[in-house]
Amino acid sequence: MKNVTKNLEKVGHIRSLRGLIVEVDISGDRPEVKELLVVDGHPEIFLEVNFFRADTAVCINLTNDSALTCGQKIFRSHKKVSVPVGPATLGRVFNALGEPLDNAPIITDNRRPISEPSGTKSYRGVQKLEMLETGLKVIDFLTPFVKGRKIGIVGGAGVGKTVLTMEMIHNVTRNEKSLSIYCGVGERIREGNELYETLKETDVLKNTVMFFGQMDSTPAIRSMVGPAAATAAEYFRDEEGRDILFFVDNIYRHTQALTELSTNMGLIPSEGGYSPLVFAELRRLEDRLSSTDKGTITSVQAVYIPADDLSDPAVQAISQQLDSVLVLSRTVAENGIRPAVDLLKTTSSLLTPQIVGERHYRLAGRVQSIMQKYDSLKNIIAIVGENELSPADRADYQNAKKLIQFFSQDFAVAEHLNGKPGQYFTIEQTLSGIEEIIGKQT
Ligand SMILES: Nc1ncnc2c1ncn2[C@@H]1O[C@H](COP(=O)(O)OP(=O)(O)O)[C@@H](O)[C@H]1O
Ligand SMILES: [Mg+2]
Repeated sequence: MKNVTKNLEKVGHIRSLRGLIVEVDISGDRPEVKELLVVDGHPEIFLEVNFFRADTAVCINLTNDSALTCGQKIFRSHKKVSVPVGPATLGRVFNALGEPLDNAPIITDNRRPISEPSGTKSYRGVQKLEMLETGLKVIDFLTPFVKGRKIGIVGGAGVGKTVLTMEMIHNVTRNEKSLSIYCGVGERIREGNELYETLKETDVLKNTVMFFGQMDSTPAIRSMVGPAAATAAEYFRDEEGRDILFFVDNIYRHTQALTELSTNMGLIPSEGGYSPLVFAELRRLEDRLSSTDKGTITSVQAVYIPADDLSDPAVQAISQQLDSVLVLSRTVAENGIRPAVDLLKTTSSLLTPQIVGERHYRLAGRVQSIMQKYDSLKNIIAIVGENELSPADRADYQNAKKLIQFFSQDFAVAEHLNGKPGQYFTIEQTLSGIEEIIGKQT
C-alpha cells in the first residue's frame, strides 16, 4: 500500500473515534465512497470511507491502529483497496488489502479495486451442464459437482467441513488442472499454513491464488477477503476466459464480520439479529461468484452453523445462494462415518435426469426413500426390536445401514491423521457399488 501516500490533498479532520469507526469532518473536496483516506503523520493507517452523514464521512479504520486522536488532519488518496490480479499472482498468498503474506515481493502493477465487480454482466444462460467428478462417493451421488455452480458444505464446529473442503481441492484440482482461488475467512491461522504446505507438495499451488483474513483480523479486513478473492476470480474469468474453482472456508464468517461491522456502525439489527446490510452484502458477493459468457466460477463454500442450528437466518440466506447443500452431522461423525453427511438433510437442485442421467437419477430417488424409511424405522426398532419388522422393511433397514457404511471413505488429506491412504471412486464405481447393495431395479 506504499503507493497510497502520493498526491495527498487535505480534506478535513477527525471529528470522533469509536472503535473501528472514525468520523471525519469534510471541509475540502468530498472523497468517494470506498476511497482510502490518509492520516497526517501516519502513512501506515488507512481509513476507508463507508458513507456520508451531511458533511461527515463515516470511515472504517482498516488497520485498527490506536494512534489516532480527534482533530488530526486527513488527506485524500484517490485510491481504493485493490488487489493484484493476473498470472503473476499464481502460487501467491495475499491478505484482503492485496499485500503478500508469503514473504515474496509483488511482481505486477496490475491491480483491481475490490469494491467494484467486473463490468461483464452477460451471465450464462442455458449451457451444457458439465459434471465434474470429485471421487467422493456421497458428493458425486447426492450433490453432483457441476461446472459453474455452487456447492455448500454445511455443519457445526468440528464436523469435518475444512477436511472435506481440502479433499475436494485435492481431488478436483488434480482432475481438472484448472485454476483455483482459495479464500480463507475468519478461520484458524494454522489451517491456512497447512493448506499452503499441502498445495505446495502436490504441485497444485502454482495454479492457485490464496487470500486470507483469518480470525485474528479486524471485522473490516475479514469482510474484505471475500470481495478481494472474487476480484481475482473475476479477472481470470472475464479477461482471460478461464474456468475457475473457488473455495471459501468459511462463508458464514463473512456474514459474521459484516454483522460485527454493522454493530460498530450502530446499525440496528432486524432479521433474527442480523442487519439487512449483511444480507445485501452477501448477495453482492455471491452474485460476483457466478459464470459469464467468458468463463465459469465453480464454488465450494464451507458454511459454519452457529449452535448446530440450520435455521439461523445467515445460514438460510447463504443456502438460498447454493445449488447443492451438503449437510454434515455431528451424530454421523460420532459414528465414525467420513464424510459425516446427513443423507436426508442433504439436497441438490442439480440431481436431475438431464444432468446426471436416468440411471443415476433413479438410483438417487431409491436411496433417498430407503434412507427416509430407515429414519422412521429406527424409532420403531428402538421400541419393538428389528425382528418385529416385515421382511421387506427389514431388508430396507439392512440396506440403509449398508449404504451409510458404503458412503464412508478414507481421505487423502487425512492420511496423516489416521494412517489410511485416501480412496478415490469414479462415478461409475459409485453407481455400481450402490446397485450391488440395493439391486439394479425395484
Ligand atoms: N475425513 C476425515 N478423516 C479423518 N478425520 C477427520 C475427517 N474429517 C474430519 N476429521 C477430524 O475431525 C476434525 C475436525 O474437522 P474439521 O474439518 O476441522 O471440522 P470443521 O471445519 O467442520 O470445524 C479434524 O481435525 C480431524 O481430526
Ligand atoms: Mg473448519
